[in-house]
Amino acid sequence: MCGIVGYVGKANATDILLEGLEKLEYRGYDSGGIAVSGRDGVVVEKAKGRLTALREKLDRDGRPDGTVGIGHTRWATHGEPSDANAHPHRSGRVTVVHNGIIENYLSLRQRLIQKGYEFSTETDTEVVAQYLDYYYQKNHDPLTSIIKVLHRVEGAYALGILFKDHPDTLYAVRKDAPLIVGKGKEGNNLIASDATALLKHTRDVYYLENNEIAVLTADSIGFFNVDGDPVEKEESRIDWDESAAEKGGYEHFMLKEMYEQPKTIRDTLNPRIKDGNVVIEELGMTDEEIRNVGRIHIVACGSAYHTGVTGKYVFEGMCRIPVEVDLASEFRYRDPILGEKDLVIVISQSGETADSLEALRITKAAGIMTLGIVNVVGSSIAREADKVMYTWAGPEIAVATTKAYSAQLIALYLLAIRFGQALGTVDAKATASMISELKRLPDQIELLLNNKEKIQNFANHYLAAQHIFFIGRGIDYAIAMEGSLKLKEISYIHSEAYAAGELKHGTISLIEEGTLVNAIVTQDALFAKTVSNMVEVKSRGAFVMAVTNEGNTEIENTADLVIYIPQTNRFFTDSLAIIPLQLFAYYVSVGRGCDVDKPRNLAKSVTVE
Ligand code: AGP
Repeated sequence: MCGIVGYVGKANATDILLEGLEKLEYRGYDSGGIAVSGRDGVVVEKAKGRLTALREKLDRDGRPDGTVGIGHTRWATHGEPSDANAHPHRSGRVTVVHNGIIENYLSLRQRLIQKGYEFSTETDTEVVAQYLDYYYQKNHDPLTSIIKVLHRVEGAYALGILFKDHPDTLYAVRKDAPLIVGKGKEGNNLIASDATALLKHTRDVYYLENNEIAVLTADSIGFFNVDGDPVEKEESRIDWDESAAEKGGYEHFMLKEMYEQPKTIRDTLNPRIKDGNVVIEELGMTDEEIRNVGRIHIVACGSAYHTGVTGKYVFEGMCRIPVEVDLASEFRYRDPILGEKDLVIVISQSGETADSLEALRITKAAGIMTLGIVNVVGSSIAREADKVMYTWAGPEIAVATTKAYSAQLIALYLLAIRFGQALGTVDAKATASMISELKRLPDQIELLLNNKEKIQNFANHYLAAQHIFFIGRGIDYAIAMEGSLKLKEISYIHSEAYAAGELKHGTISLIEEGTLVNAIVTQDALFAKTVSNMVEVKSRGAFVMAVTNEGNTEIENTADLVIYIPQTNRFFTDSLAIIPLQLFAYYVSVGRGCDVDKPRNLAKSVTVE
């Protein structure tokens, strides 16, 4: 899950590469490096750690001069974070940056060692550089060398490649890792792992398909397949502007993106509300086709999986259609039983998560209908799914998702209402009332965000906490899962989410004097049951914070602190209850001095298994 960028044009490549890498640093921040082709040949500069370390090195040692270059920001998979393992990797006349994993690198490495090659890093990527050099020495043709290597490497890769003998040309390849080509203005062309690194220069892009090679010069962009045949490609236009990928005056991208949730919900909701009805054109299914759906499978990872858990409760509760929710990394290897009339929904912010992408491919290979709920336009899942429903959240930079999570919930609510209409479980009156409640969510969220002080003060009491638990029943359990993940991933505090009824079957042994338990209690039908679970942990000394609906004041008899959320439909409470939990995680993270936007060991898009 690294970030790669490349530039060929008239300007100084070093500046453009560093700017691009800054935009991509959320993809991995173990080390950074650039290679620039100029008068002195290809100059490589790299450093372990954040891009600041690389900038300091360049200020100290001098900046390479040239108008063609490649850059990399790393999330280490093979070989620890170090200067040596940092990209770019060079072998002979070839220099490479890589995002992905070369699965057969050990056997290729052995073969090259037998051919006399010596290795100086632990990375899988060095094998690619060495093999390219091996073939280039044989045929002195970059394209042929690249094709030779592609026929030998297995795994996922997006590559940026420079050949010393071809100083004015940048080569790029992709297979199962994202890479887009940016057609710049007047003789400037670029490659990047995602659009955020290109927006300053262009919004005109080409999406590379698997096993396609791009050859860029200042004035031309050519595409080839793995047989070396030219490929015609259609240009696309990105509708995000550069400011969307900026902090906009907020201290962190996560805080900015939390405050963008009201707009995100309006942008995802309004295009699908027409004349007081839910219309999801991109679904392209008739009522009869919907009625023919036997079972829904929701497949995803991390926070996207959590929206899937909420989706299960919403679909089953609103439409009485059976829903299975699966972690994509489990789904892809458990040989799932899929009925020919089933619908598989794959949810992903980035649209590039390797396990979710593979789950989609397995489903398609079985001839089952797939629907992608995706945020990044033109991403692999969006392009490969039979149908795609975009969540219009704009670029999400903070590793911990917030606005994309909220937009995914809206997409699931809309789908459930649409299915309910076709299945006859949701009539026009119910539709109208749910639409008006959905339309109230943005203002209600704004209200919760603006009342953040109470949460901020509360969070400051738990900066030194060792363990924090989240409990809930039904949809509240799904909310608890997401609340716990948000806290874990940005504050590094151990946290677990439990179905509240499960506590007494073992986990309650973890509760001791002062342990914080955050109880989510938004489902009226389960109110009393969850309160009794709160009483259980309180009797073991826990401090209980409860998130519940306005008016549930009797909960103050049990909870030590209560956060009230505005009233809404029981199926939509996740969209409101998650806000105080996002704020809690955010202020604990800030209070502990953690890097909120780039938490340790994480990356925004998990493009490897
Ligand atoms: C959530 O904050 C994390 N960034 C992570 O769990 C994420 O949800 C997961 O990796 C799935 O990513 P996707 O939505 O891009 O597929």
